[in-house]
Amino acid sequence: MSQVGTRRILITGGAGFVGYHLTSELCKEATNEIVLVDNFARGRRDAELNALLAKPNVRIVSGDLTRPEVYEQLGDGYDEVYHLAAVIGVKHVLERPEAVVRVNALSTILLLDWFTAGNNGKLLFSSTSEAYAWTQKFHQLPIPTPEDVPLALTDLSNPRSSYAGSKIFGELAVTQYGQRSGKPFVIVRYHNVYGPRMGHEHVIPELYARALRGESPLVVYSTHHRRAFCYVQDAVRCTIAAMRSSAANGKTFNIGNDREETLIGDLAKKILARANRPQTITAKDAVNDPINRRCPDVSRARNVLGFEPQVSLDQGLDLTLAWYHRELTQQAASSKEGRHDRQVA
Ligand SMILES: NC(=O)c1ccc[n+]([C@@H]2O[C@H](COP(=O)([O-])OP(=O)(O)OC[C@H]3O[C@@H](n4cnc5c(N)ncnc54)[C@H](O)[C@@H]3O)[C@@H](O)[C@H]2O)c1
Repeated sequence: MSQVGTRRILITGGAGFVGYHLTSELCKEATNEIVLVDNFARGRRDAELNALLAKPNVRIVSGDLTRPEVYEQLGDGYDEVYHLAAVIGVKHVLERPEAVVRVNALSTILLLDWFTAGNNGKLLFSSTSEAYAWTQKFHQLPIPTPEDVPLALTDLSNPRSSYAGSKIFGELAVTQYGQRSGKPFVIVRYHNVYGPRMGHEHVIPELYARALRGESPLVVYSTHHRRAFCYVQDAVRCTIAAMRSSAANGKTFNIGNDREETLIGDLAKKILARANRPQTITAKDAVNDPINRRCPDVSRARNVLGFEPQVSLDQGLDLTLAWYHRELTQQAASSKEGRHDRQVA
């Protein structure tokens, strides 16, 4: 393990959304030595990631965690391993569910083989609220939902099962490897985490981009669905607390914000207001999302980790949409420049 005074940290999927924000927080401690690993399937090597990589205590290994050779490049001796890499997102789940199963399962098994064989400390596995989806559809689950409810897969032919199944499988694999090896582990289930640099397919940036383009009325799916959105800085704080707390070992924690459930229709109105657009919405039903209400019970994280979500939806939307405003403005400017360059050429 690491030399006295330093903490060696590995973050898989470190170029992605949560990985980037987790690294931004962890690199503030100079004694943390952080290695990111990512194959850039979704993560981006943008100016923000480059700024992190310019710090003396952050470096990246570019590689695919489903390939055994990448583990040789990682070495071992990590005090903390955050396993965030996965194929996620509705588009992938619907269009290539077999890749979702393959990458999420295989990367987790190879990582566990490497983690338990080497001289490594504690592993954190990132799971999801989607693990409750099928139980929630066919049985009455309490909402807010605590961690100890049964998890189920029902219709295995439904592509949506690929993501939930791969994450339930990941939780199982981490638990069994952890128990057998005696190495500490913790599982976190993220619930609707949002913030800057989360890509463009998530409901918040997607609605904002269409609102800015002047779509009127704005088409909004599932306006009657209720969700509890958690700002990424809150999620990152809770993630680090779960890693650092020995009382968390072997446990599963919901990570989310149970203080402020919102209707998707109301979220859309907040987004339209921030885009300075008139509030006209056309409601449509989403065919792919049968879950009407989703909210985590975060009492366990409160009791064991002392976690409390701190960023309100209004504050989080202000921070997130200011970032997207800059990003979309820059994109528009560079595509205009590109057109101009092509015309000149
Ligand atoms: N963001 C959320 O609201 C949310 C909700 C529930 C669960 N999660 C979980 O949290 C984790 C992080 O989510 P995120 O939102 O940051 O996703 P993300 O897609 O932004 O990040 C995942 C990263 O993993 C990388 N990756 C994928 N396959 C890889 C491979 N084979 N080898 C190496 N790298 C690979 C991608 O390039 C990407 O950078 C995921 O495991 C996800 O399932 C996130």
